[in-house]
Amino acid sequence: MTAAALTARRAGPLKGRVRAPGDKSISHRALILGALATGVTEIEGLLEGEDVKRTAQAMASFGAGVERLGDGCWRVTGQGGFSEPADVVDCGNAGTGVRLIMGAAAGFDLAVTFTGDASLRGRPMNRVLKPLGEMGATWIARGGGRLPLTLKGGALSRIAYRLPEPSAQVKSAVLLAGLHAAGGAEVIEPEATRDHTERMLRAFGAQVEVVEDGAGRRIMLAGGQSLAGASVRVPGDPSSAAFPLVAALITPGSEVTVEGVLLNPLRIGLLDTLGEMGADLSVANVRDEGGETVADVTARHSGLRGVEVPPERAPSMIDEYPILAVAAAFAEGRTVMRGIGELRVKESDRIALTAKGLAACGVGIEEGPEHLTVTGGAVGGGARVTTHGDHRIAMSHLILGLAADQPVCVDEPGMIATSFPGFVELMRGLGGEIAEGERLR
Ligand code: S3P
Repeated sequence: MTAAALTARRAGPLKGRVRAPGDKSISHRALILGALATGVTEIEGLLEGEDVKRTAQAMASFGAGVERLGDGCWRVTGQGGFSEPADVVDCGNAGTGVRLIMGAAAGFDLAVTFTGDASLRGRPMNRVLKPLGEMGATWIARGGGRLPLTLKGGALSRIAYRLPEPSAQVKSAVLLAGLHAAGGAEVIEPEATRDHTERMLRAFGAQVEVVEDGAGRRIMLAGGQSLAGASVRVPGDPSSAAFPLVAALITPGSEVTVEGVLLNPLRIGLLDTLGEMGADLSVANVRDEGGETVADVTARHSGLRGVEVPPERAPSMIDEYPILAVAAAFAEGRTVMRGIGELRVKESDRIALTAKGLAACGVGIEEGPEHLTVTGGAVGGGARVTTHGDHRIAMSHLILGLAADQPVCVDEPGMIATSFPGFVELMRGLGGEIAEGERLR
């Protein structure tokens, strides 16, 4: 994919069967746990996006053997721990990468300097540094706990940490640090977030106990546990599958199947919401792959209606609000999304950029500190959307352009490769018209 602008325009119906790229969350974790473990970890279906490639490079710099054997097939040979990298660890655009690696690295007596691209250097790291500091890690960082920062770990003590915000990244960082803390770690999450770290730690031989009670979900891990290399099959990413599925729902005459989509209950908030909006979605070939449920999901063009999205659903669809807003633009009536303040600290301020992009395309949209309201109806399009280098903002507006009255152009489409390499080719294969350059007429 080139760095030039891209323009999407309405064409015929979208038809076909595709595979979503590997799940980003699971891909990062497979590489990190593989590097922490002793022995060989074979990974199949790894997402070969820029974010995950940065994590692969980082794991090599911490001393693991990291080899690409073929398309999506990687072998990680772990040394049972991290050694000190000889250089700065650059995690690119990846919040998940840097936050999980900081947690893992904090368990070892070494100093590591982390950095990232302009977006990542602007994102809050205090949410991870706070619990790691309570465990005994120290650091020096830019103001507000921003990258670049140098973290010094080792000799950690036990923590019982209640997450102040629902964040699987923070939970995972604490658990990974807890592996090497005297007394381990306990994380209490008032709202359940994606549980891939807990599941994968078990697959690598760790004991992890999860209890659900009035306080929420408590995840307990004993310290001093060693991991053994394992085989990981990475399912298709539901956050990426969302783009072709919503494209089919809003484009007349369409029917698209995405095969092998991860249907972990903590990741399917978007599918639940689209179902409530009247989407014609069906699920087939449901199976278990490596401890996760996957299935083939089919979407057909549907008359959608606006809904109120329950705020407690946010953690299970946090990355999907921009594309939900696109679906809502084509629905009848109002869609209200509350309790989504976390969207302001993603790769960009996704509340602001979704509001700005959709408004430029003629959609009725209102933003508040922690909410978005979209009023569906005619979607004019005909706009150039500034994405601030956010891959999901870029993909969402291109999908909108496939069904809007006039074309929609996005800048910086190269960033799409952080999570969905081959997105443009995949959408073209389904019949979507996405061309290079800025051509709004
Ligand atoms: C992720 C957790 C979420 C999500 C991100 C991936 C993970 O972030 O937005 O894309 O893999 O743990 P938060 O933990 O900040 O909510």
